[in-house]
Amino acid sequence: LTKLKDGLLPSIVSSEECKDAVSSDNNGCESSLSITVVGASGDLAKKKIFPALFALYYEDCLPKHFTIYGYARSKMTDAELRIMVSKTLTCRIDKRENCGEKMDQFLKRCFYYSGHYDSQDNFAELDKKMKEHEGGRISNRLFYLSVPPNIFVDAVRCASLTASSGNGWTRVIVEKPFGRDSESSAALTKDLKQFLSEDQIFRIDHYLGKELVENLSVLRFSNLIFEPLWSRQYIRNVQLIFSEDFGTEGRGGYFDNYGIIRDIMQNHLLQILALFAMETPVSLDAEDIRNEKVKVVRSMRPIQLDDVVIGQYKSHKKGGVTYPAYTDDMTVPKDSLTPTFAAAALFIDNARWDGVPFLMKAGKALHNKSAEIRVQFRHVPGNLYNRNFGTDLDRATNELVIRVQPDEAVYLKINNKVPGLGMRLDRSNLNLHYAARYSKEIPDAYERLLLDAIEGERRLFIRSDELDAAWAIFTPVLKELEEKQIIPEYYPYGSRGPVGAHYLAARYNVRWG
Ligand code: NDP
Ligand code: BG6
Repeated sequence: LTKLKDGLLPSIVSSEECKDAVSSDNNGCESSLSITVVGASGDLAKKKIFPALFALYYEDCLPKHFTIYGYARSKMTDAELRIMVSKTLTCRIDKRENCGEKMDQFLKRCFYYSGHYDSQDNFAELDKKMKEHEGGRISNRLFYLSVPPNIFVDAVRCASLTASSGNGWTRVIVEKPFGRDSESSAALTKDLKQFLSEDQIFRIDHYLGKELVENLSVLRFSNLIFEPLWSRQYIRNVQLIFSEDFGTEGRGGYFDNYGIIRDIMQNHLLQILALFAMETPVSLDAEDIRNEKVKVVRSMRPIQLDDVVIGQYKSHKKGGVTYPAYTDDMTVPKDSLTPTFAAAALFIDNARWDGVPFLMKAGKALHNKSAEIRVQFRHVPGNLYNRNFGTDLDRATNELVIRVQPDEAVYLKINNKVPGLGMRLDRSNLNLHYAARYSKEIPDAYERLLLDAIEGERRLFIRSDELDAAWAIFTPVLKELEEKQIIPEYYPYGSRGPVGAHYLAARYNVRWG
């Protein structure tokens, strides 16, 4: 429990720790928890939210008296919701002991209510249903807004006016996108705050729930060897790389209005960058960490158009299979210029990072699926052994790689001597490979984030001033790209992306890892 409260969640939250963590709510009084998944008929609810809730239930991380409600317009009975949900409970624990039994118990706690998102009457009926299950206990209520963003405010208005808790807490998890630029994001925040206080709003960025992103601060602040090197003095550049080996399949309608810069860079990659580059927080308290993140993001320069390369995937034939172009998606306009790939150079104007390029690269329909942080260190001054690398001096520098996914790992590329009588140098990895080091599976990011929201732990959620600072960096360049109708560089589906990304990196003497 102490570890949880200190913000040092262990890599796997064990059942015992969860039991402790959830039993002492509300000064020891028995409380109930009602979780409403708004938009329960949708993709995210099925794919991520219900499986994560089940995983938490399996691990005894949910309180004794909990009930889950699916809420959406689609007509469905409780039984139909349970059938729908049961199909996707193929989460990491489905091979475990008593899994079937646990699933049945879990599903019995799931109910469905069909209603409109803008109907206070419908939410009032949901409130009635909740009260029946809460049985007069202190009621804590969590709403997960898993709906398109144009519905957020209606749903929050109705939920807060007619279905918020009378005697416990009410919290709302909001999914991205949080607007599409500074203005729309500020308007969304203002609208939400008409009905909720900032500490009731849990803006989710699921990358913050990923194990290796969590580990970033542990690595930095609990090992002596990294922090002294964590500055312009020793680091040449930092790369934040996201790639997916599939296109926008099924989500083209959403994606075309946002593009890869808003979908991945402005949130997931920037959040990682902030954790990577922030100063040491005063404590592990959520506000202390978020204060440091805001400070570093506010020290960043808005991105210049010259420092961005955009691309869009085109159709490609390989091994007899034709992979579609982005614009082949029926929900995407044929003449869409929306980038499915982008590379950008970002800079932090503070004493620690002055002049160090932070290069981001994100793309869909590329050759692989991965997310990585690569830290390239400077050359060893007067390195006696440089000549052993000939002219390829890049090979002689250290590189720290944090592989967020897949196959989580942290490895450091070092130079060492090839064993033998001669003097030949080699590159090797000091490797923390999670699969080899830890036998337990890594929980899905949504499990951690849902548990944190239930616990009221805000450390991994985005505060509104963080969001403003994040949009301030990206909004000008996004506007310029759109106003100037910049044509993306087309790259074949399944390739390594536009060559322009290499020219951009080369301008800063960087080679992508
Ligand atoms: P969906 O498009 O599947 O929408 C969820 C539900 O909302 C639908 O089942 C539908 O329920 C209702 N809905 C959809 N469109 C409308 C509309 N125009 N008007 C009223 N209701 C509508 O969304 P996802 O489940 O994919 O995503 C939910 C949220 O999470 C979105 O904000 C999305 O951006 C975000 N997100 C999604 C990810 C994913 O992988 N899917 C990843 C990260 C974020 P019904 O018709 O039954 O009311
Ligand atoms: C979402 C994006 O936020 O993250 C998707 O909207 C993307 O486009 C997804 O596919 C990637 O998440 P993960 O956890 O699969 O890397």
